[in-house]
Amino acid sequence: MLGFLLLGYKDMDDIRHFISTYDWTKDDLQAIIDEAVKLKASPFQASLQNKSVAMLFFNPSLRTRTSFEVGISELSGTAIILQPGKDAWPIEFEDGVIMDQDPEEYVKEVAQVLSEYCDCIAIRAFPKFVDWNIDRTDHVIKSFAKYASVPVINMETIEHPCQELAHLMTLQETLGSLEGKDYLLTWTYHPKPLNTAVANSSLLIASKFGMNVKLLCPSEDYLLDRRYLDYAQEACSKNNKSFEITHDINAGYDGANIVYAKSWGSLNFYGNPKDEFKVRKNFKHFIVDEEKMELTNNALFSHCLPLRRNVKATDEVMDSPNCVAIQEAANRKHVQKSLLTKIL
Ligand code: CP
Repeated sequence: MLGFLLLGYKDMDDIRHFISTYDWTKDDLQAIIDEAVKLKASPFQASLQNKSVAMLFFNPSLRTRTSFEVGISELSGTAIILQPGKDAWPIEFEDGVIMDQDPEEYVKEVAQVLSEYCDCIAIRAFPKFVDWNIDRTDHVIKSFAKYASVPVINMETIEHPCQELAHLMTLQETLGSLEGKDYLLTWTYHPKPLNTAVANSSLLIASKFGMNVKLLCPSEDYLLDRRYLDYAQEACSKNNKSFEITHDINAGYDGANIVYAKSWGSLNFYGNPKDEFKVRKNFKHFIVDEEKMELTNNALFSHCLPLRRNVKATDEVMDSPNCVAIQEAANRKHVQKSLLTKIL
């Protein structure tokens, strides 16, 4: 560590990354939400004056990019948007590779250089959808965390912790205490096999915050990674709450206080979208509609967005007063401002 101090680097042991809420306590996360509520009421502060955040997008975004960029500006900070391979050099992540292909620089240099210019590095890097055993290591963001000397924030990789915070804030704003509420995470149909990140995150946050959690998906092919199922089971047990997996739509919706919808691709068919589609196309009836919502306890409905109307959820559900998806998207800005204020 002396070498780092002599070179003027920050002590890396002091850095707190926000890659997964798994590493953060319930109290820590609640403190971020409590501060976000204050920032929502009083949005313009100078808490990020003279601070800058490098935001690297390997994938498209509407909400994440806009909410971070506007939020940083409202706190008097500077946001730098970079799209590696488009407006910034393509990056190599494999160790020891002979770099005679497309990438122009190695992640170590990228992370170290950005750490010299900026106070935080935020990363959106979706899985490659070829081999889940590789993607589940979250190699891209972990590489940045390994080499950066500033905090690294996850803007969606195999988890989406900023979405989790916004989801939690929205539920608390609307329902008050979430202790003992019945929470349903339901799989929905989509024409493409999508990332499991938001679904993984949904299990992490719902189980951590004392809800009875149900996962509804069409078959065993659509179970999430064992790591998230085990976490949800353990956290629910610790909180004296239930965790249940069901493939029965009626049993899933029955009595729910919250319905959170997301589509994701089957991990059993990972890297094999043609065969996966042959299975998935049979499950269009998992759409969230009024008939299913009638089975709930007047549940709130939400989705992280973007959402294909009348594929994932009907117009009636999206336009119902119980839908809080826009409120959740709006809260992204407030929770991210609170997070940045805390970790910087
Ligand atoms: N929910 C979410 O992260 O939206 P974007 O993909 O538009 O950023």
